Amino acid sequence: MWFVSRLNMFWRKMNINSSITIGTKKKYISTEGRVTWESPSNIALVKYWGKWGRQMPRNPSLSFSLKNSVTRTLVDYRLRNSGEKGMNFRFDGERQSGFEKRISGFLHEMEDFFPFLKEYHLNVSSDNTFPHSSGVASSASAYSALALCLCSLQEEIYGEQMEQSEFFRKASYVARLGSGSAARSVYGGFVGWGKNGADSAGSDEYALPIGQPVHEVFRDLQDAILLMSTEPKKVTSSRGHALMENHPYAEVRYQQAHRHYEQLCDVLTSGDLMRFADLVENEAMSLHALMMNSHPSYTLLLPNTLAGIERIRNFRIRTGIPVCFTLDAGPNIHLLYPKLEQVAVVSFIEEELKDLLEQGNWLADEVGDGPVKLDSL
Ligand code: DP6
Repeated sequence: MWFVSRLNMFWRKMNINSSITIGTKKKYISTEGRVTWESPSNIALVKYWGKWGRQMPRNPSLSFSLKNSVTRTLVDYRLRNSGEKGMNFRFDGERQSGFEKRISGFLHEMEDFFPFLKEYHLNVSSDNTFPHSSGVASSASAYSALALCLCSLQEEIYGEQMEQSEFFRKASYVARLGSGSAARSVYGGFVGWGKNGADSAGSDEYALPIGQPVHEVFRDLQDAILLMSTEPKKVTSSRGHALMENHPYAEVRYQQAHRHYEQLCDVLTSGDLMRFADLVENEAMSLHALMMNSHPSYTLLLPNTLAGIERIRNFRIRTGIPVCFTLDAGPNIHLLYPKLEQVAVVSFIEEELKDLLEQGNWLADEVGDGPVKLDSL
């Protein structure tokens, strides 16, 4: 009950459309139909690492949304027949009981936000444009696509239209409850999540596009995802977040992330690529250092990751080309560089990094424009 009244207070504060008022019986305008969203994964430059309560971040994070690595989710909905189960889920056209259980649990938790979920049957089908365990965060694209579908369902089913910024704030809030980093994927470009010193609008509850102008050199920043290993991770992000709770460096880390967030905002406006490289690499190494000195200690970096990092840094020193790397919670490297340097950097990958990569594989991605609502297929 406490949670429900907190929710009501929250939405009132945000002036979110009254149709979501919890407990009020609303009239259904549409009893069946379909919505489809395509939503991107993102890569964090300032990392979210540590959380509390119901998916609240311990520090602000800043990412950019990818262009090519997206999840497409299609939801067929109809009023349920009596006794019928609430949903089924297909991934790549196949029933997947593990995913289905997770999504079904998530939808059940979302019934307070979307009361129609108690009375509608949903057929949810998803597919990704990128391979599984490829160093691209599939939970970010998956939960953001699903959250956007739920917000569109709300509009269709109740025949109401939310104001655009409210729609995306609600989608981000809901996506966050599925997976923290998914909160940032409901927007394109550079996105911040968490209270921060650079933007007074910043919130722990939902993400927002960053508040300041982005220099043109970053608007089409390239991201070559270098695949060192596509084995499933041996320690999940959820476990990693939990290990921050008794971490001896937790407080210093949260302060560092706040500082890096503000500095990165300045750099994104100024266009200083070398300063960008310094900050972004420091963030990536800090994330992995926290894993190495937590209790129990673990490392997700592989020998090839370290060799790749050395070669990238040497290439930058040798050529003056401002390439840099970041890392997710895994061994794969995201090699970031300005589009202007594409020819030189692609030859560098092909000639000097390829022997480190699993089957020589890497994915070409870049800053994307964010989710797209697709016309019903
Ligand atoms: C290292 O969003 O996967 O990628 O909230 O438990 O689902 P949950 O965690 P998740 O954590 C992402 C951690 C990270 C950094 C980031 O994306 O900011």
